[in-house]
Amino acid sequence: TVKISTKFESKSEPVPDMPTEPSVKAECFFVLGGPGSGKGTQCSNLVRDFNFVHLSAGDLLRIERNSGSKNAKLIEDICKAGKIVPVEITVNLIKDEMLKYDWEKTKFLIDGFPRNQDNVDGWERVLGDQANVKFMLFLDCDEDTMLKRIMKRIDNSGDEKRYDDTEEIARKRIKTNKDTCMPIVEHFEKKGLVKNIDASAQPNEVYAKVREAFGDALPVLKSEAEPIAETTGLP
Ligand code: ADP
Ligand code: C5P
Ligand code: MG
Repeated sequence: TVKISTKFESKSEPVPDMPTEPSVKAECFFVLGGPGSGKGTQCSNLVRDFNFVHLSAGDLLRIERNSGSKNAKLIEDICKAGKIVPVEITVNLIKDEMLKYDWEKTKFLIDGFPRNQDNVDGWERVLGDQANVKFMLFLDCDEDTMLKRIMKRIDNSGDEKRYDDTEEIARKRIKTNKDTCMPIVEHFEKKGLVKNIDASAQPNEVYAKVREAFGDALPVLKSEAEPIAETTGLP
């Protein structure tokens, strides 16, 4: 068994610049879908046009790994195996980021989380009382398309290449998605909490459906963004 370092260990000691816990609940939306389904792309679109804060669990883990922190090696090993990192690490990275924002004015897109039952349980423990998850947006995409997109992302990424973006690891991530992430989506589905989007279409067509799925839950349009009707990408 691997020893995981967590913030829980220093619970009893005062942490000088620990942000105060907000008094309102954080409004959150889970964004799920297999690797390459377009989560990052669609969240970027939403952030470009609306006042959302986008937190990608995978991005936060990569930043933490690159920081060389005490969990870096563990994160790297698990991500290279295409597996899911223990939630004590991931949920605290997410919460720390959330605490940088004013929860009264912010809607959070939580991208790539929860990806297994451990993620669900950890969210419940750490943020269950403080966050209000409105729904899960699920980007529905077949595995061949996901792999093709990841291969294209690898070709186009140059120096920005992710250390877990190889064909071999991508295949493992796709398998993990099927084995551990899909049962979570199905669990949320049974509770009527999933908005399913066909993510195999062109990015703009997917985006039009994403906005439609949010409906009234969309935060204010950023002033520089074009009115919704003009950005659907449809003729
Ligand atoms: P995820 O965050 O779900 O892994 P990304 O948003 O990073 O997926 O998308 C993976 C790759 O596929 C990127 O190179 C992206 O530009 C491309 N992509 C995203 N959405 C589409 C789409 N609807 N059609 C074709 N390519 C897409
Ligand atoms: O979402 P993304 O494709 O960026 O995730 C990259 C990797 O980060 C995953 O394949 C997985 O190894 C790790 N991850 C995780 N737990 C999450 C999200 C991502 O372990 N909730
Ligand atoms: Mg992503």
